[in-house]
Parts: sequence; structure tokens; C-alpha cells
Amino acid sequence: MIYIKTLFRNRYLKGLLFLIIVQVFVLRAQGEPTNFGVDHLICEYKMNPISIDVLKPRLCWKLTGAKRNIRQTAYEIQVFTEKESANTLKAPLWSSGKIFSDQSVQVPYNGPALKSKQAYFWRVMVWNSEGESSTWSKVNCWRMGILNAREWKAKWIQSNFKNDTTGSPSSQFRKDFKLNRPVKEAYLYITSHGVYEGWLNGERIGNDYFTPGWTSYNNRIQYQTYDVTSQLKNGLNAIGVTLGDGWYRGYTYDKKKDIYGKELALLVQLEVEYKDGTRGTFISDGTWKTSQGPIHSSSFFDGEVYDARMEKIGWSTVGYNDKAWKQVLVNSSIKDNLVSMAGPPVRKHEKFVPLKVLTTPQGDRVIDFGQNLVGWVKFKLAGKSGDTLKLYHAEVLDQKGNFYTQNLRSAKQEISYVFKGGAEETYEPHFTFQGFRYVKVKGYTGVLDSTSIVAYAIYSDMPQTGTFSTSNPLINQLQHNIVWGQKGNFVDVPTDCPQRDERMGWTGDAQAFCRTATFNMDVAGFYGKWLKDLAADQHKDGAVPYVIPTVQDSSAVAATGWADAATIVPWNVYLAYGDKRILEQQYPSMKGWVDYMVRHSKDYLWSTGTHFGDWLSYAGTDYEDGAAVTDKGLIAQTFFAHSTQLLINSAEILGKVEDERKYSILLNHLKSAFQKEYVTPSGRIASGTQTAYVLALNFDMLPEELRQSAADRLRRNIDNYDEHLTTGFLGTPYLNHVLTRFGHLDMAYRLLIKETYPSWLYPVKNGATTIWERWDGIKVDGSFEDPGMNSFNHYAYGAIGDWMYRVVAGINTSETATGFKEMVISPKPGANLTTAQAELETLYGKVSSKWMIDGKKLKIDIVIPPNTTAKIELPNVAGKVLENGNDIYSVKDLHEIKKVGDTQQMSVGSGNYHFEYTFHF
Ligand code: BGC
Repeated sequence: MIYIKTLFRNRYLKGLLFLIIVQVFVLRAQGEPTNFGVDHLICEYKMNPISIDVLKPRLCWKLTGAKRNIRQTAYEIQVFTEKESANTLKAPLWSSGKIFSDQSVQVPYNGPALKSKQAYFWRVMVWNSEGESSTWSKVNCWRMGILNAREWKAKWIQSNFKNDTTGSPSSQFRKDFKLNRPVKEAYLYITSHGVYEGWLNGERIGNDYFTPGWTSYNNRIQYQTYDVTSQLKNGLNAIGVTLGDGWYRGYTYDKKKDIYGKELALLVQLEVEYKDGTRGTFISDGTWKTSQGPIHSSSFFDGEVYDARMEKIGWSTVGYNDKAWKQVLVNSSIKDNLVSMAGPPVRKHEKFVPLKVLTTPQGDRVIDFGQNLVGWVKFKLAGKSGDTLKLYHAEVLDQKGNFYTQNLRSAKQEISYVFKGGAEETYEPHFTFQGFRYVKVKGYTGVLDSTSIVAYAIYSDMPQTGTFSTSNPLINQLQHNIVWGQKGNFVDVPTDCPQRDERMGWTGDAQAFCRTATFNMDVAGFYGKWLKDLAADQHKDGAVPYVIPTVQDSSAVAATGWADAATIVPWNVYLAYGDKRILEQQYPSMKGWVDYMVRHSKDYLWSTGTHFGDWLSYAGTDYEDGAAVTDKGLIAQTFFAHSTQLLINSAEILGKVEDERKYSILLNHLKSAFQKEYVTPSGRIASGTQTAYVLALNFDMLPEELRQSAADRLRRNIDNYDEHLTTGFLGTPYLNHVLTRFGHLDMAYRLLIKETYPSWLYPVKNGATTIWERWDGIKVDGSFEDPGMNSFNHYAYGAIGDWMYRVVAGINTSETATGFKEMVISPKPGANLTTAQAELETLYGKVSSKWMIDGKKLKIDIVIPPNTTAKIELPNVAGKVLENGNDIYSVKDLHEIKKVGDTQQMSVGSGNYHFEYTFHF
């Protein structure tokens, strides 16, 4: 008692106690629950983004809690202009009020107009189905970018050094500037023609690479925003920026250079708010100085030539003597095509150390990094001044074990480094990346080990969202290869391959792989950005270029299965993230593409144009049927119908009733025309290939009554190839889905576990660490395929990943409440697998499905995230199903329980579920 009295005499403790009591009271009044909360607040797919130029940004949050059936029934969002306001009960700028809704993702800000460069702090409170509220979430923030082109005070500057014949040296730009008061906060807005790397007071600005990224430069150039507050000091400061050719004027395709322009340029605007509330702006202008530095040339394809003797020590720090530097030129390029960076930046990721250092039969010294990766090598080595170290990059060694670069075509992938001499020198490239597993070293004979030379993977910074594994190590390696194919080909744009002289945003490859991509990583922002470029580069008549951003001739457009990226990619983003805005954003582009096909068809049949067809399908001649070539007109008609279907779906979602009606009529005509032209009365399809049947069935081109027999024909075709697939880029993504849908799951599994050519596991058996471009990049006799077209890192055939997540593990979003708001969990064991599991971090939280065969029993563990529901389908049930040891019919959290055939169905809310039952094979 005395002790308590003493406590109360202490004023500080008295205050604290009072606060605790108030807090308890407030929480009680809010009905504070013990077992649910709200967390992970993101804005436009980013956590605390600092440069948003979407005027009504969308907000998402996750409900947390381990209890079952957590469901949001209402929410309230508050937005403040100052962080402290949230905690001091100040009136928010905007409050949504209590909204009775279960929407917790893609909720648009709906308050007063947002101001340029203003930060907004927000929090959310949610209510559950018991009427309890959470506490307020922690306060997160977003900041708007530059919303008006007039706010760009900076001037585009350039250096006009003449390129010599051997390369185009990177220019450096610098400027000292003075801040005469302590800084409260400072943001740097920066972009370039070309790629840039910036430094403030000798320290790199941000950790992004190849900025400003590749877009349809003639229409949109991204700028980046960096919070540089901690890099500045009171008094003199210095900024330095280097420019490289990048995509702007570097080689892109067919030895073409200068696609967007001959001169590089830089635009920098630093905006400072001082602690005393005043502001200052520092810009790129005619007072900056420029010089050439150590990067003699840099090119994505060819690598970098770097002469360390030319380094200008201290050039981005205060006081550097730049008397010998030239004055920059100011150019008058426009600034109204500048947009804030929307997708994830390219960043440095995994580090690899040498697995082996070997000497090839030809006597080359080669490092094996153990993984075909995309990025570069960093080294710390010593050499004599003027000595040159050369690094060559290759994906594979040939049959004899020699270094093989023929498949790179004209891409040199070569680093040439001239030592300055003396102590150890550390170097990593700046404006280039290579696709490689092996590095040949010339000009250095000393020790090469993990302390002196390492490799880094470089790719767009997309958080991993999915994992998939099974009891079969080869399939696990396949999943690994798919993921690494994705990493290597998601370098700012979705590329076909990352090593030869191509590396472009091939639309066909992108559409084939995009649904798989949505499982492995968070790709919403990545595709959102690319789709804007697709729309920007689309021709006025609706034709979609082969590659986006486009760098080819204007005739390189409108190939079936390629141009359909215009409809397929937005649709898949909508499915994965419930993102209606992507459909809104892309709708004119989707419609433009369908209308293009309408205009180029006759009697509803589209059979003109230049097409790639079922690219790289099986071409062998050792079977009766020979090469699996599918008629290109037939393919074109199926994709025409598919794109039309996706347009109809989108029209329905966006409430475009007239379009929905109009294109539905069109679709009927397209299917009839297909049947008339390509299908016999008994359901035989003009091309008897797997791809013909797969596309016709997947896109519902056949009348109901002919579908099953067509699927059976597909199966027989596979049998004829001794149970091998023969599909190319267009048929492969749907092959196993069609087999599954029409009762041939066993065959789908047989294809999955097939180890002989052509199959998914054939490359795995041959040591692949990524997905190959061709089914037989390395032929059965050990020799290579045609070097003109033989990439070992091409993600298209990795599209099987989608089937592995959605069928083997059985994680699907419903198509009516997309983004996994409602889902169907329908695992389907098969082949000789004894276990399979997948996890997926959705916008709502983690979904997981794991099955395990234990003797005659099947055990299935399922996790459903808060604020979602799932329909569960348990296959091959023979007997009673138990959930956590209880008969499912007695478990109150399981609803709508019914048995259809031998599948046990039920509906559930969020939570963890464990099922066990006797399983029949
Ligand atoms: C690319 C492909 C692309 C194709 C068009 C190739 O050179 O690497 O992946 O889709 O051209 O057929």
C-alpha cells in the first residue's frame, strides 16, 4: 500500500497511469478485439511510396488474426497532411467515414484533390463480423510526385563530346551548390535520355539501376524521386551524374542504334525544405560542367569498357577542381512527357560465389557460378597500370567443355577493365548486364575466389509471392528454373531473353508467361507500367507491335498470339490482383486490337497478316506425324476469339453494356466461322496438332457436343508421340489445363514428369538452371540447336508454372471475385508425387495448399487469409472426411458441404484447415 502511495506521489508515473487507463478505456469503447487487427498498408502496390502521380491512388490493407472466419464488415480510412495529426486527434484532411463494406484492397482515395509533392499520412480501422473494431492501424504514408509539367524548373542538359569509332564514352556532369540553412527534408527528381547513375557528396543516389527505365520514350519518360535528406549537409554540397547509352541510343536490335536520339541528356531538380520552413530549388542548367570519365563505352549487348586510369577521384564531392571540365549545353527537349516511375526499379539481388574455377580443353580459365543468371560480375583484384582484364560471359559450355558464345549472336557480353595500378581495385559494371553462368577470365592469372570475384543477379525489384514444391526433386528444379527465368527476363521490361542481341519486350512471350509470373512474384506494378507502353506504342489502327517498347519497323505488328498481350496481360493482372483500373486503363487498347482484327477479317475469318504461329513447336520428323505445325490462320482465329472474349469480360466489369452486347455477337460469328472453316462435322480439326486441339478447346471454339471427342483426340495425338508434348509458345500454356478440364489429368501429369525430349524435364535432366527457348536447346546427341535461335534463358515454356500452382496445388482465384477475394482450392494429386505444396501471398494475405499421401490416406492442409472465402474441393474421396479429427459435417466453420461424384466440396472463411481421408487412386 505504501508502495502504491509512493507511486502516486510521483507525478510522472501518475501521468503514465492516467494514459494507460485512458487507453484501456478508449480501446474498450472501440470494442477492441483480442484476435484481429489491420496491417500492411500499401498505396498503389507500394509501401510508403514517395512519388505517386495517380490522382486517386488506391489503398490496400491486410486484416490479421489467427481465428477462423475473419471478415471485414466495415472500414474507415483517415488521411492527414501531417504525421503527428493522426496521434493528436486533429481533424483529418479526409475521412471516408465508416463504410460498410468488405473491400480491403484497391480502395480509391476519395478526398480533396491531392497536391503535387505533398505527403499524405493514412491509417485505417476495420470492423469484423462480430461488430468489433480493430485499433487504428499504424500510420503509413504516400507522397505525390510532380503533377504538373510546369513545375519542372530544371533544364535538360547535355555534353556534346564526339563519339569516337570504338564507342561512346559516358559523360559525367557535376555541380557544387550551397545550402545555407539546416535541411528538414529534400527530394531529388531526376531523369535522363539514356541511363544514369547519380552521386551526392560522393555517395550513390538510391540503389536502383538502369534508371529511368525503358518506356516508350517518345511518349513517356519516367523520372525517379529520391529522399536525399540524409545525404545533404548545411553548406556546400556536390552532385555528380554519369550517363550511359542504355536503351535510348544504345544497340537494341538488328545492330540498330540511336533509336530514340543521338544525344543523351540529363534533367535534375532538387527541392529542399529547410528547418526554418523556407524552401530552395537546385536544378540542372547551363552552369553545370561536364567531362568524360572512365567508362569508354557501355552497351547492354556488348558490355562495358572501363579505363580506371581515367577515374576522376572525388568528382562528385565538394571542392573538386572542375576547371578543365566543359560547360554543358542546354537543350530544349520537352518536359510534358515525364511521368513518375510506376513499376519496381531494377535492383541488385542474389550474390553468387564461384562454384568452380576450371580450365577448359581449349585452355581458357573459366569460372562457373552454378546458376544461369542475369546481372554482372564484381571483382576486387590488383593489376599493373595499363594492364587489361577481360571478362567474357556465356550461358553454357559445349559438349567438349569449352566456353560457348555462338548463341549470343552479335552480343559481345564482354567487360574490359584497364587497371590503374597499385592496390586492389574494385569494379562492377554500370550500364550493362549479361546473361551467364560461366565467365572466362583473360589477363589475370592470380587467385580467383569468393573474396576476389562474385556475381550479382540484377532484376526488377518484385517481392516474391509464391513458392511451389513437391516430392519430386526434378519438378522442384523445374520450378526453380521458372523462377530464375522470370528473374532474368524481368529487367524493367518483360524480355524474351537476356543474353543475345535481342532482349526486347516480345509480346508473345510476355502473354504466354504472365499468369505464371503473377504466382511467383508481385508483378502488378511491373505489368502496369509495361501495359502503358503497350498502349502508347500501339498504332492508331489498333495494331500492336511485336515488341514493347517498340524499336522495330512499323510493319512489325499484329502477329496473332503476340499482339494479344494487349488483352491477355491486363486480364491476368485483373485476375491476380482484382485490379479493375488496369482494365479501365487498357480498355481502349484492348478494344483497338480487337477492332483491328475485325477490320482485317473477311466473313468473320481472320486469315491474313504475318504470324509467328506456334513458335518453336516440336519439329522432329522421327514420328509418323512429323513436325507439329499448326495452321497459322487457325491459330489467328482462336486468339481473335479469345481476345474478343476478354474484351467482353472487361466490358461487363466496367459496365460498358453496349460493347458487351456488340462483341458478344461478334464472338458467336467468330466461333461459327472457325467451325465452318477448320472443323469437320465429327469434330476433326484442320491441323491435327496438339496445339490446334488445345487452342480450340481452351477458347471454347467448338460446339459443346464436339468438345470431349476433341479432347480425346488430343490425348491420342499425345499417345502417338509416345506420350510427349509437341506444342510451341502458343499451345504450351494451355495444354495441361485442357487435359485436366476434359478428364485427362493422368496424361497432364505424365507430360509433367516426362524426362525425355520434348518435355519440361528434359532440360532439367540436362542440367538446366533456367527455362530454355527450345525444347532441345541441347540435343539428345549433346550438340546444340541452331545458334541463331538458342537461348538458355527464355521464360515462355515456364508457363507450366501456372498449372502447377492452380492444379497440382490447386490455388485458384474465382473469376467473379478476383484477386483471391473468393477462391477455389482444388488440389489434384497425380503421377508418382507423394506431396505437393504451394503458398501465395495475395493482397489479402497468405493462401496455402499442401497435400500429402500417407499410405492410403490423403492429408491436406489449407490456409485461407482473412477477409476472403474459399470453396474447397477435395478429390478422390473414399470414405469419411475429417477436419482436425472431426467429421466435416460436424464442424461449424464448414458450410455448403456436399459430395459431387467422389469430390467433397465445402465453403469456408479464413483460417487454417487440416483434412484427412482415405483416398482412392
Ligand atoms: C524471340 C522470341 C520471339 C520471337 C518471335 C525471337 O527472336 O526471341 O522469343 O517471340 O522472336 O517469333
